[in-house]
Amino acid sequence: MKRAIAAMAVVVSIGVAAASWFILLGMYDVGADTPHWNITRKLIEVVRDRSIAARARNVEVPDLRDEQLVLKGAGQYAAMCANCHLAPEQRDSEIRPRLYPRPPNLTEQRVDPKTVFWVTKHGLKMSGMPAWGVGHDDETIWSIVAFVGKLTGLSAEHYKDMVARSPPDEEMNSMDKGGGQEPGKGQETRIREDGADGRSQALSRRKLEKVAWTTITGRPRGAEF
Ligand code: HEC
Repeated sequence: MKRAIAAMAVVVSIGVAAASWFILLGMYDVGADTPHWNITRKLIEVVRDRSIAARARNVEVPDLRDEQLVLKGAGQYAAMCANCHLAPEQRDSEIRPRLYPRPPNLTEQRVDPKTVFWVTKHGLKMSGMPAWGVGHDDETIWSIVAFVGKLTGLSAEHYKDMVARSPPDEEMNSMDKGGGQEPGKGQETRIREDGADGRSQALSRRKLEKVAWTTITGRPRGAEF
């Protein structure tokens, strides 16, 4: 018995030493242009899927049928998600093929609303999926969930029309008022001149600035200091 325990201790120590050696010598390639080993990928997938399922289970889904909510979500999606998750009839984007893991094409893949809400709000570690709950309230996140629910099967024309009709982003307006930045007027002029695409680009830039600000300072932009 004693000998068996001693033998096991030796095997475990050799295993730990080999693993430490492997890690400390930098032998695992973390470059995003080489895929994970199969076993690493499967492990990460199981951890991710179980983690999301456990956390999304108790999310309560509100009524997502309201047309204004869906339209609001269309504008948010175009500004914050389409670059990575694509718009209808868009083959690929500049960034998507370079990300690892590759963001799923949400115009083709249906995801249940609880998962969309949880993942959009909290993001996913080590994947490039941002935590949009930083700087966005739940109502805004739900508007995106409502729109994502309509995305599969939507034509490019219908999509552009919905983005163009999406209501102005009040969050961004209040940020402009409180943040001591130039007023939101410039943004609106740009929207009128460039139509839906210019609008979503302007929004996209401002959203990213806002998320970066909140992440760095720990305060929502425009808050009293
Ligand atoms: C910078 C790129 C990027 C942006 C922008 C982005 N995502 Fe993602 N997203 C990802 C990546 C990468 C994954 C895949 C992670 C994985 O496979 O582990 C992902 C995964 C997801 C998933 C999980 C899908 C599933 O099958 O479980 C959802 C839902 C999602 N994103 C929604 C959104 C929404 C909504 C937005 C906009 C508010 C958004 N994402 C913006 C990169 C992005």
